[in-house]
Order: sequence, then C-alpha cells, then structure tokens
Amino acid sequence: MLRAQRGMVVRPEQICVTRGSQMGIALAARMLMRPRDAVIMESLAYTPAISSFAMAGAKVLGVPLDNQGIDVEAVEALCRRERVRALFLTPHHQFPTTVSLRPERRLRLLELARQFGFAIVEDDYDHEYHFESQPLLPIASYAPGRTIYIGSLSKLTLPSLRIGYVVASTQVIDAIAELVMTVDRQGNLLTEEAAADLIASGELRRHVRKTHAIYAERRQSFAAALRRHLADLAEFDMPEGGLAYWLRFRDMAALDRIDRGAASDKLRFAPSTSFAVPPSRERGLRLGFASLEEEEADRALRDLRALAELGWVRHGLTNEIRAVFDRIARDLRHRHRFEEAMRGTRVDFRFHIDSRPAQPRLHRQRLLGQKVAFGNHEEQRR
Ligand SMILES: Cc1ncc(COP(=O)(O)O)c(C=O)c1O
Repeated sequence: MLRAQRGMVVRPEQICVTRGSQMGIALAARMLMRPRDAVIMESLAYTPAISSFAMAGAKVLGVPLDNQGIDVEAVEALCRRERVRALFLTPHHQFPTTVSLRPERRLRLLELARQFGFAIVEDDYDHEYHFESQPLLPIASYAPGRTIYIGSLSKLTLPSLRIGYVVASTQVIDAIAELVMTVDRQGNLLTEEAAADLIASGELRRHVRKTHAIYAERRQSFAAALRRHLADLAEFDMPEGGLAYWLRFRDMAALDRIDRGAASDKLRFAPSTSFAVPPSRERGLRLGFASLEEEEADRALRDLRALAELGWVRHGLTNEIRAVFDRIARDLRHRHRFEEAMRGTRVDFRFHIDSRPAQPRLHRQRLLGQKVAFGNHEEQRR
C-alpha cells in the first residue's frame, strides 16, 4: 500500500502501528518537543493535533494559508524568530479547508526544514480519496529522513478499528516505540492481524475501489444540495479530494446561529471556532459528505438552512406543524423585501402564527388592529 500507491519505500522497522493516527500525532509531539520549542501549524488545523502539541509543552504558532496551501514565506519568517522544532501539516487534503498543498510549496518547505533543522509531521489521514487527478505523493516519499509520516485505516475502514501507523527513520521509530511501551505496551494484536489479512488478501483494495466510486458520486450530489440550500449564505469550492466540504460564510450572523445549534442531536458537526490556531479568527464550516446518501444529505442541508435562519431545527413534529414552520422559514426569507415595501410607514408590528391547517401563515399584526400578511402574499400584493 505505502510502496505502490504512495511511493514510499520503507522497511518494517521504520513503521510503528498505533491506535489510530491520533495516537501517532500525540506520540510524535511528545517525542519531538522540549520546553519552549515551537511547532508551526496552519492557522486552521485539526483540533486534537493542536492539543497534542500544546500538551507536549510546545508553543503552537499559526501561519496563514490560501487556496494553494500554507504560506511558506510566513513559515520562513517565523523560523527566523523562533526555535521551531516541528511543522505539522495535512498537505494532501488540508484539514479543515480541504486544499491540496502545491508541489512547489512542498519543495520549499523541505528546503526550509533542512535550513532550520525542523521535522515535518505529515498527517495523511485520507490519502486514497482523491477525485480530480492522481493523488500527489506524500512529502515523506521524497524526504523520508525529514518527515514523520502518519497514516490511518479509519477513513478506509472504520474509526472504531483504531489502527493507524507512523513511518519515520528507525531512530525516530525506536524512540516512539519506547513511548508506546509506557502507554499501550503492545497494541491490539487481534485487530491488527485481521487488518493485515484484509490488506494481504486484496480485500481492502477492492473496498477502496468500491467506496471511491460511491464517495465520488456523493461529492457531486452534496455540491448540488449545497447550491440548492446554502448558495446565498456561503461559498465553497469543490474539494479535489477528501470527504468534506469547507464553507466560507458571507453572512456571519447565520454562522453564529449554526454554531449555537451545533449541539443539536440531529445535525452533528464541529463549531466553526474549533479549528482556529490562536491568534487566528478565521471561521468556516467543515461538512463531511461521505456517510450521507443523496436524500439524507438533502435533508441535513435543509435542516442546516433552518438553523442558519432560525437558530434551531424542528424535531419530531407532526406533518401539519412542520408545514407551519416550513412556511414560517420561507416567509422569513421574504421578510426584508416586506420591510422595504413598508419603509417609511412607521408602524409597529408583532408576530403571531395563524396555524389553521389549511392556511398556515405568519402574520405581522399592526398594533392598530389591521393584519398585514407577508411572504408569499406580500409578493402578490406588490
Ligand atoms: C486530520 C485528521 N487527523 C487525524 C485524525 C484521527 O484519525 P484516527 O485517529 O481515527 O486515525 C482525523 C480524524 O478524523 C483527522 O481528521
């Protein structure tokens, strides 16, 4: 797998199996960092990786990124000011933005790693799922001595299998193995042997071929659903690979409402504030599409739309009441046009719901007593 698909020629003693790539990241952080050492990360990054380095005593420094990946000039500037011991990256599909790091920037980072003596910790958590072209080879394939490469079977099989691995020089692997002895002793040999069987028999390769085709389709239908439900609120690019979309919101108030509803038991996603490496204040929403059939994705994004507009999602309502709330949501969308129509009339309104089943409407009632319907009616009235 490493040799054929990722161009990595390694010996078994250069690999350490871990419980998921998360453990690999934590071990690499503990092995590398000394007090007052710094680690550079992209200004938006995988939260448990930020925590792993911070808990290992590292000073975590964020560097901006754009649609080509991390800003290499900013990396160089930091290396001149700080004692940088490691650079943590997700170059294949940047987490959370999904951007692939361009080859020329990869080479520049390697030059900087040699010049300033830092290690590159490369988290390649979803390598196989690349849709636009052949996947780019990992940085570790052309600079094995400078990188600590971390992979996982979580996206390929299932996260609860808890199998990941670290690939590095034998010296680094020996140091990591010593740490493993103190926290896990020997891993779970039963699941590791079962996974080895899946790899050796070709079953895993066949599974990847099948799921690749399914996820490629879901990536397309998710984009269509995003355009249907959220096009006016957020922008997104079709990710070249990976199993998620990154949404940049135009309307930050809508994103705030979504964040507040993030604990909803119907929709599960990380709040937009969770990826920022201080002092970054960049925000966006990362939405995974791989586990959703087309209709499920459509329903989830319709609920997300309601969250963006209302700050909450309907739960377990009867069809009749659901119809009322759907109409309210639609009416609210027309509200600003209503405001425009009424501009200059200086009247006070209050909301009330007329929920007679045949005619559910949201009205605004003039305190003077006269009812003025808006939304669908308002358009006819104008
Ligand atoms: C960027 C990134 N790194 C690492 C992990 C950890 O994966 P695991 O520990 O399940 O292998 C994840 C999980 O989603 C991830 O998104």
